[in-house]
Amino acid sequence: MNRFFITTPIYYVNDVPHIGHAYTTVAADVLARWYRGHGMEVLFLTGTDEHGTKIAQAAAAHNKPTQQYCDEISAQFSDTWKELRISNDAFIRTTSPAHAIAVQEFLKKLWEKGLIFKALYQGKYCVQCERFYTDDELVGGLCPDHRIPPEIQSEENYFFRLSAFREQLLAAITNEDHPQHFKIFPRERRNEVIGKLKQEVNDLSISRATLAWGIPLPWDRSQTIYVWVDALVNYLTAIGYPSDTPRVEEWWPADLHLMAKDILWFHAVVWPALLMAVGMKLPKKIFAHGFFTVNGQKMSKSLGNVIRPAEMIKEYGVDGTRYLLLSAFPFGADGDFTHDLMKTGYNAALANDLGNLISRAMTMVEKYCDGKVPAGEGRELVNQVLEELKPMDLQLEHLQFKDALATLWLVVDHVNRFIEAKAPWKLMKESPADVGPALRQVLISLKVISFYLRPFMPDTANLLWMQLGQPDYIKNRAVEFFDAPESVDLPVGQPIKRGTPMFPRK
Ligand code: MSP
Repeated sequence: MNRFFITTPIYYVNDVPHIGHAYTTVAADVLARWYRGHGMEVLFLTGTDEHGTKIAQAAAAHNKPTQQYCDEISAQFSDTWKELRISNDAFIRTTSPAHAIAVQEFLKKLWEKGLIFKALYQGKYCVQCERFYTDDELVGGLCPDHRIPPEIQSEENYFFRLSAFREQLLAAITNEDHPQHFKIFPRERRNEVIGKLKQEVNDLSISRATLAWGIPLPWDRSQTIYVWVDALVNYLTAIGYPSDTPRVEEWWPADLHLMAKDILWFHAVVWPALLMAVGMKLPKKIFAHGFFTVNGQKMSKSLGNVIRPAEMIKEYGVDGTRYLLLSAFPFGADGDFTHDLMKTGYNAALANDLGNLISRAMTMVEKYCDGKVPAGEGRELVNQVLEELKPMDLQLEHLQFKDALATLWLVVDHVNRFIEAKAPWKLMKESPADVGPALRQVLISLKVISFYLRPFMPDTANLLWMQLGQPDYIKNRAVEFFDAPESVDLPVGQPIKRGTPMFPRK
C-alpha cells in the first residue's frame, strides 16, 4: 500500500487559532483527502506546541495554571479543525507524557553521539519567535518578524553541534543523488536556505537553565529542553517513536512537512541536522508557503485585525472559507487578504458559478425530466470534462491549490456554457427528445465535479452527491472513480433530490 505522511506545524497555544493557522491546515487537509481519494494510506498530523517562555508568559497573563491554559487553547485548535472538517489522523500535544519520552530518548541519542557540549551563552532572544538572533539578523536592533527588541539572555546551556552538519546538509539539499537528498519548495526559499548554509552556521543552544515550563534534559534535570527541539520531535512521537514498533519503520521519513516561510530554517536545517545526528532518515519534502497579511497589515492581537476562522465560517460557511483561503493567492507567494477579495471571490465562484450550476441543473431535471436521471446517448461533454480536469493531478502534486481550483472552475464554467448552448428551455419546444441526453451529460459531469471538489469542499461535494440521488456518501467511491474515471455514470431513472441553493449571494 502506498503511504503518505503529511504534517502541519504544531501551533503555539499562546493564542487561539486564526486564519493563518487555518491556511496551512486546510492545505494539508486537501492533500490528505486527495491522496486518500486515490487509494493511498495517509497519515495526516497536526497538533499544538505547548512549552517555552512564550506559553508560560501567556498563561501567566491570563492568570491561569500553565497546563490548564494549554488544555483550553489546545482544545480550541482541535475544535476549530473539527469545524473546518480537517481530517487529521493524529493530533500531538507536546505536554503529553508520550511526547516527553520521545524527546528525552531523542536527546539521549544526541548526547551519546558526543554532539552536545556545554557553554556559557549570551545572546539576543526573541520570545515571540522562541529563538536567538545574531546582530546581522536583527533589523535596526529589532526582531525581523515581530519588530520588537530581543531580550539579552545569558546562561550556561547545552549546545548541539549544528555547525558540524553544514556541508552534509548542503550536499543533501543540492545533490539529487545524495543518499539523504531532500527537497525544499518553492525554489526561491530553497535558494535562501542554500545561501544561508553557505555562510557560517552557529551551533544551537538546546536547553534552558531558567525556564521550568519544558521537558527536563535527561542527563541534567536542572535544565529544560529548548522548545524548538521539543517541538520538532513531535513528528516522530506521532508514529510511536522511540519504541521499535513497525509504525516508525512504516511511516518514517515523512513525505511532506508543510509550513510558512517563517519557520523554514528550523525544518530545512535544524531538523534534518538533528536527524542526521541520530542516524535517522530525512523528510522527503519541505514546502514553505507564503505569509499573508490582512488588509495590508500583519495579523496581530495588538492591531486588532486578527481574523478567526469562526468569523470567516460565519460569513462564508465552512466550504466557502476553505475555498477562499486556497484560491486567494498562489501557494508559496505572500498575499494580502481583504474582505473585498473574499466577498468577490465568494460571489463569483461560489454563488454564481458553482451554486448556480448545481441549482439550475437540478431545477431543469425536475422540470423537464420528471426529477429523474434521463436516458440518452452521447458523452462528448463528460469526456471533455474528464480531459480538462487532468492537470489537477500535477497541480496538486506541486501544491498549486489556486491553479487546481482554477482548473476545476474552468470545468464548472464549461458545463454552464454547455447548458447555455443547449438551452433546454428552448429545446423543450423545438426538439424535446434532445433534452434528456443533454441533461444526462450535465448530471454525469456534476458527478465528476463532485469527486474533484471533495478534497477542497467536502460538505458541498457530499451535498451534490446526494442531490444526484446517490444513496450516501461512501468513502471508497472516490477510489473507484479515480481507478476508472472514463466509466463514470448514473443509472437511468434514478431520482434526483434538489436541495436549497448552496451559496446564497452576498
Ligand atoms: N510552534 C511553532 C511550530 C513548531 S513545528 C515543529 C510555530 N507555531 S505558530 O503558531 O507560530 O505557527 C506558525 C505557522 O502558522 C506558520 O508556519 C504557518 O504555517 C501558519 N501561519 C501563521 N500565520 C500565518 C499567516 N499570516 N500566513 C500564512 N501562514 C500563517 O511556529
